[in-house]
Amino acid sequence: MCGIFAYLNYLTPKSRQEVLDLLLQGLKRLEYRGYDSTGIAIDALNSGEAQAILLVKRTGKVKVLEDAVAEVCLGQDYSLPIDTHIGIAHTRWATHGVPSELNSHPQRSDEENSFVVVHNGIITNYKDVKTLLEKRGYVFESDTDTEVIAKLVHHLWQQHPGYTFGELVEQAIQQLEGAFAIAFKSRYFPGECVASRRGSPLLVGIKAKTKLATDHIPILYAKAHRPHGQPQQQAFQVLPPGDCSAEFQPLERKEVEYFFASDASAVIEHTNRVIYLEDDDVAAVKSDGTLSIHRLNKSSDDPHAREIITLKMEIQQIMKGNYDYFMLKEIFEQPESVVNTMRGRMRFDTKTVVLGGIKEYIPEIKRCRRLMWIACGTSYHSAVATRQLLEELTELPVMVELASDFLDRNTPIFRDDVCFFISQSGETADTLMALRYCKQRGALIVGVTNTVGSSICRESHCGVHINAGPEIGVASTKAYTSQFISLVMFALVMSEDRLSLQQRRLEIINGLSQLDEHIRTVLNLNSQVQQLAKELYQHKSLLIMGRGFNFATCLEGALKVKELTYMHSEGILAGELKHGPLALVDDEMPVLMIVLRDPVYTKCMNALQQVTSRKGRPILICEEGDNETMSFSTRSLQIPRTVDCLQGVLTVIPLQLLSYHIAVLRGCDVDCPRNLAKSVTVE
Ligand code: F6R
Repeated sequence: MCGIFAYLNYLTPKSRQEVLDLLLQGLKRLEYRGYDSTGIAIDALNSGEAQAILLVKRTGKVKVLEDAVAEVCLGQDYSLPIDTHIGIAHTRWATHGVPSELNSHPQRSDEENSFVVVHNGIITNYKDVKTLLEKRGYVFESDTDTEVIAKLVHHLWQQHPGYTFGELVEQAIQQLEGAFAIAFKSRYFPGECVASRRGSPLLVGIKAKTKLATDHIPILYAKAHRPHGQPQQQAFQVLPPGDCSAEFQPLERKEVEYFFASDASAVIEHTNRVIYLEDDDVAAVKSDGTLSIHRLNKSSDDPHAREIITLKMEIQQIMKGNYDYFMLKEIFEQPESVVNTMRGRMRFDTKTVVLGGIKEYIPEIKRCRRLMWIACGTSYHSAVATRQLLEELTELPVMVELASDFLDRNTPIFRDDVCFFISQSGETADTLMALRYCKQRGALIVGVTNTVGSSICRESHCGVHINAGPEIGVASTKAYTSQFISLVMFALVMSEDRLSLQQRRLEIINGLSQLDEHIRTVLNLNSQVQQLAKELYQHKSLLIMGRGFNFATCLEGALKVKELTYMHSEGILAGELKHGPLALVDDEMPVLMIVLRDPVYTKCMNALQQVTSRKGRPILICEEGDNETMSFSTRSLQIPRTVDCLQGVLTVIPLQLLSYHIAVLRGCDVDCPRNLAKSVTVE
């Protein structure tokens, strides 16, 4: 989706140039979230009565904006340090309105840039709000849903001139439906920045010169809206303190810098102290440097404060290192990322597995009627990949669902269902909505995510963090293998006390202990895969066939090829070949087949013979030293032998590499495939 980034410094003098550099750097970190257009707003030099705002927006990636900013600012003295300065910035993945300068964010309330806003999400009732505002004389200049937000706040400001900036935003979000993370700047509230979220992620980073006096920011609940002219202190009911100070100024006045960002990768180089905002929080930084968090209504279980947490992420984790692309780095990180997924959970000496995040819920999970695994895209494929093992080790029905289709069908859900939501980002809108749907119906909700503090993490009853480390490349790679292993570990936990399954469990645990070494061996195929890519990159299509534990690899491999290379690719269940896809096979069509010595080997060999007898020339993925199988083709990639249910971790890696190399050869932008974004926070 889109990425939003805002910065405010208070008593920590920064020049406009430094603020600009900081904003552009923040956008670069978020570029994987969307990259069809970008924009920023900062305080302009020539402030008149009110602090004028400079807006720069461009179609294209952050680099284009960077050049445009340099051009706009040419000849102006931007080196003078200023005590307080606010900038907001945005990188867009278009939903409403084509990528263009006018449709880029920040969107504005009027030609004077009175209120400007950056937004990630979709306002579903924007047409109604727009009609209402048009009747009041507002003229819209873009095709976006976001423009209504800026104009709505302007309208409210005109109606309630005594309201604070935070109150205006609080009022505005009451009128909005849909999903949003928003950050505002206004020429009438210089030195202030207000942000809010509902459904889309948003965090506040805090960097202070001296240690913060509190680890909590108390939430101020509005009792009622303040009639015009009434002093502000009476507008809010300040709740009893708990373990924090309930002063109206929760962060004392000191030298402080604030960041608002869609995710932690944009702030980690500045600070590791962050607050994850909850839906309908309105976070306001005032011109005196204080931060407060407001909410409109308090219900009995609402907390008193938001915690400032310390992130464990390191800046190196989000840098490309010596790799040309994040994706390649992430593919090569898999020997370490799978170990991190298992760390502290798998005890190879005692052959035991503990998943701390769901430990207490295991008895309840074991009593369930069925297990539902719900996800989108690559995360869905990790569920397909491990379903068979779960069925085998739990003897429970396991339903694997694409979140969007699950919702379209209004699938029946029961109180004794256990629903897993698998999501790298933890923010995917379809998955999150499916989660809420199941929660409302009383099911136990288990989150399997890679992002601490994400919406799916927070809204689950319990969960497993896959610990793959930040994944920046838009195409998911290491998160897939870590999801895979997390779900395998879950199957092991569920079968711990089943005597008849102990031999099988041991086999899998041994397989897991060797997995990192096996992945390293597969990564050594890189140059061979690159050669193969040279043979394939000019073709229009690639078929990938397999069955059993490797069917998910076919789906995932085909998805990688499609999204990165824009070439058609299809993952085909080998058992379905003669029911239609065989018609595609001839001596031209590239076909890749996974044929391993597992329980479906004979059936895969049948499929292989069907392909070769139609003059097909398949490329094989097979086991090291399996000369018999390799004799059916002139091109094979050999992978180490492992236990059948873990093969998918190894077979997917050559396909990740293949899609990468084909994309490079076709001149595609590997980390930012066209029309895609890392985190899809809209339906
Ligand atoms: C493909 C890819 C997507 C995501 C999907 C779900 O490479 O990354 O298919 O897997 O958008 O995203 P998450 O896992 O964040 O819910």
